[in-house]
Formats: sequence, C-alpha cells, structure tokens
Amino acid sequence: MARNPVNPFRYGKLVQKKDFCTRPEVNVLREYLRSGQNVVLYGERRIGKTSLVEEAVRGLKGFRSLFVDIYEVQSLHSLSQRIASAVARRGNMSLVQRFLKSVSVLRPTLSLNTDGLPVIGLDAQRLSTPTDLEPLVDFLCTDFSGEKCVIVFDEFQSILNLPDSREVQAILRSKIQQQSGAFVFLGSIRQEMRLLFTGHDSPFKDSAALMEVGYLPEEPFKKFLAKKFEMTGYTVEETVWPEIFSVTRGHPNETQKLCSALWMAHLDTRTVTPANLRDGYELIFAMQRAQFERDWGALTGKQQSVLRTVAQRGGRHVTAADFLQASGITHAPTVRRCIDRLNDLDILLDADGEQVFTDPFFRLWLLDKGY
Ligand SMILES: Nc1ncnc2c1ncn2[C@@H]1O[C@H](COP(=O)(O)OP(=O)(O)OP(=O)(O)O)[C@@H](O)[C@H]1O
Ligand SMILES: [Mg+2]
Repeated sequence: MARNPVNPFRYGKLVQKKDFCTRPEVNVLREYLRSGQNVVLYGERRIGKTSLVEEAVRGLKGFRSLFVDIYEVQSLHSLSQRIASAVARRGNMSLVQRFLKSVSVLRPTLSLNTDGLPVIGLDAQRLSTPTDLEPLVDFLCTDFSGEKCVIVFDEFQSILNLPDSREVQAILRSKIQQQSGAFVFLGSIRQEMRLLFTGHDSPFKDSAALMEVGYLPEEPFKKFLAKKFEMTGYTVEETVWPEIFSVTRGHPNETQKLCSALWMAHLDTRTVTPANLRDGYELIFAMQRAQFERDWGALTGKQQSVLRTVAQRGGRHVTAADFLQASGITHAPTVRRCIDRLNDLDILLDADGEQVFTDPFFRLWLLDKGY
C-alpha cells in the first residue's frame, strides 16, 4: 500500500480499466458487435452506459471505433461539429484528411489546438437542411464500414432536439442499413429511446437490438468497492454494506460517490463502521446543499408534500388511500400531477412502477432536515 494513497473511488464520469467493475453485459455487447449487430443501450442516468460500451469496444481486438457524443445538440451544424470532433479526437491525420476530402462541400477548416491536436470547423451556412448531412453520414458509413468497425452515438435521444429530427433520422437510418459495421446508440431517457427505436412510425423502428443497462450485480460490486478500501489501508465493517446499498439502491455512480465520501471523511482513522456512516452523508450534503435547497425551494407546496411522503414511505401505490392520507392531499389526480412534474424535473423516476429518488442523497437530506 502506498504511504499516501489517493481516493480510489470515481464518480460522475466514465470509468475504465481498474476502475471498471466487470459486468455481464460486456460480453453480450461484444458478441453483438462482433456479428455487426446494431444495438441500442438505454438506462438511468449515470448507470454506466458509456463505461460499458468503452469497455466492450476496448476488448474487441482489431476493431476500429468512433465515439460521437451528441448530448444536447440543437442544430444540424452542432450535430456535424460533434461528428467532426469525434474524428479529430482520434488524432489520426490520415483519417482527418479523408474526412476533410469527403466533406469538402461543407468547406471544412483545419487548425491545431494548444495541445497540437487537430480541430475541424464546418461552415454553418452549408448545413441548412437535413440532406446537407449526407456527406458526413456517407463518410461514417464508408470509412467505418466493414466487419470490424463500431460507431457509437452517445446521448442519442438528443437527436429529437433537431428542428427536422425525423428527416435526419430517416437519412441516418437508410445509410446505416446499407453498411456492415455496427452502430451503438446510447441514451438515458428511457421513453425517448424506446420511442425512437420501437415507435410504430419511427424511422429507426426495429433497426437495432435493445439492451437495458441496469444496476451492477450487488455481490461483485461490493467486492470491487471493498477491495478499493482495503488496498488503501481502510477497514470496513461488513455490516456497513447493507446500509450503503440500501441508501444508494446499488446505483453505480451514487454508491461510488458515497464510498468516496466515506473514504474522505475517515482519512484519520481509516475505519468505516455503521456508527460513522453519517460523516459520509454529511460530506455529501455539504457538497450538494445549494442544489438541494434550490430544487426543494422551486417546488409547489403540494409537490413538496408528495415528495416528502415518497421520502418517508417509499414510492409504491402513490394514488392509494393511505398515500393520499399521509400526503394530506385528498385527490388522487392531484398527486398524479405532482408525480408527473417530479418525473419531468428528474427528481423522481419510475422504476418498474415504484417512484424512487434519482438522487438518493436528496431523499436522505429531506429526511434529515425534517422537511
Ligand atoms: N462498471 C462500473 N464499475 C464501477 N463503477 C461504475 C461502472 N459503471 C458505472 N460506474 C459508476 O457510474 C459512474 C457513471 O458512469 P458512466 O459515465 O459510464 O454512466 P452513464 O450511464 O454513461 O452516465 P450518463 O447518464 O451521465 O451518460 C462512474 O463514474 C462510476 O462511478
Ligand atoms: Mg454516458
């Protein structure tokens, strides 16, 4: 063990290699990609979608891949720029040159950033209708065509933000269908992803295998986390784990966040026990207090009552008589509307019929405050 070990827990961004706890979906995804099958991966926010795909692709020997993140694209130009950035990020000048040639009609420019990496600019004036995207999509479908190629579109639900989204989807779909590499579409908004790939009039209907990314299996995840504590000289009492997992529901990001906080809070004793878990919660509350206060303050009185009741009693059967009574709201449709709003705000999410907090520490904070 190093004398001054660094915090071994990672959250809020993609995890790789020793920070990646292996999960069964990796092999399933690899098999799909080996056979050139297009795949849709969807799941809750921060559940591990991007990490899973990166890990699966990294293990495919001899494959070429391109990762295009289209989070919050709002225009054809921003979508095109994301594709150009993905190409530039590969740092392969011959790939960049082929790209520039293929999209010459979009008047590309090439410069180098301060790290000496290529930066490609495209002329927004030349990207006014969905058909203007064709040279870019043609490039992807030609340069990354063939059995050992994977193109990943991350945050794919953002395609719905585009002004002519259906037309863009139709172009993508028709070109993708004609080539033999595999495409992976990642998305975190379940309804939107389902609609895109299963909606009866959607251009993407039945174009890809659907995989839902769920929680990591609890036992291996616990071992993975326990080992990280152990390797940095920490002793963790076994009885701590059920509590950690009951608070976070085993959500990968939130569980790592809590472990990280516990690690920080106990630097002096390097011991975690049920009695000192609270120090970890306190640290998270301190980091997130401003956001919790803002989110809580922005709710109406009725929404606050419903949220408080979910925090106290759990989120099953939210329109049943005892839930209504506990919330002090007499009409079930009013509770329903509050729940819909809390879902829209991404404060609660529907997990197979149960309303749960997207951020488990917000729930703890509410209970702690007695709100
Ligand atoms: N296989 C894993 N092993 C360990 N931790 C993981 C794993 N997958 C995800 N995590 C945890 O979840 C966090 C988020 O992972 P990742 O960014 O891959 O999720 P995502 O679903 O792509 O998130 P987003 O919804 O923001 O796109 C990581 O920082 C890590 O804390
Ligand atoms: Mg992601």
